Amino acid sequence: MSGIVVFGAGGRAGRAVTREARRRGHQVTAVVRDPRRHAGIEADGVRLLGGDITDPRAVALASEGQHAAVHAVSPFTGPERGFAGLDPEFFVKAAEALLRGLTETRTHRLLAVGLFANLKTPDGTPVLDDPALLPPPIRPFALAHQAGLDRLREADTPVDWLVLTPPARLERDAPRTGRYRVGGDTVPDPATARLSYADLAVAVLDETETPRHHRTRVSVYT
Ligand SMILES: NC(=O)c1ccc[n+]([C@@H]2O[C@H](COP(=O)([O-])OP(=O)(O)OC[C@H]3O[C@@H](n4cnc5c(N)ncnc54)[C@H](OP(=O)(O)O)[C@@H]3O)[C@@H](O)[C@H]2O)c1
Repeated sequence: MSGIVVFGAGGRAGRAVTREARRRGHQVTAVVRDPRRHAGIEADGVRLLGGDITDPRAVALASEGQHAAVHAVSPFTGPERGFAGLDPEFFVKAAEALLRGLTETRTHRLLAVGLFANLKTPDGTPVLDDPALLPPPIRPFALAHQAGLDRLREADTPVDWLVLTPPARLERDAPRTGRYRVGGDTVPDPATARLSYADLAVAVLDETETPRHHRTRVSVYT
């Protein structure tokens, strides 16, 4: 049993990761911006903390003594709420704060959830550049995500990071099967590939317990 800190623990991916980690007997520190809004998370023996992922001090405080960190933060919940006010540097700031904070606390492993738009189609076209696959209004969000990935890639860091990228169809209510496939920069069929949040969490926990991919980005799909 080891300690895992989950940033964005009140969100869809963060809740799934927290649940999967507790299921496997890990100690979990759940980080949310306002703990009063997420009191229920503590019910399962989870330590609940307030913190902003773009603040290196908050990252370090939450990560002290933890084995691994999970970045499941999104500044926007979905296209239906719009992307107005997006800080294009959000994911860069998060990456920098994580790398600084985790280095300070010697938290060696970082698992981050990526965005399908940063994958490539089987013919090598970036999904980002295909308006049929990525509606233009989402493009600025995808570029912000991409910038965060680029920041990790260029970092000279002791943190062993990995970005796990789901396909476009990431399903909240689909069941946990415990099965998933891992690809490289490509998603096999962007129109049909799918994954449940629960199985994304299985992949995150598998890579936490038995790291197989290092300082790279992989696709994860059913
Ligand atoms: N198909 C895909 O590729 C796909 C689909 C969906 C999501 N994603 C990605 O998966 C990741 C997680 O998304 P999700 O669906 O779980 O999002 P979500 O349900 O909207 O949850 C995101 C969480 O991030 C938290 N948050 C926002 N700003 C923060 C900050 N500055 N510091 C700390 N926490 C902050 C929010 O916390 P509060 O509770 O404090 O408000 C919220 O609970 C994101 O990177 C997202 O882009 C990918």
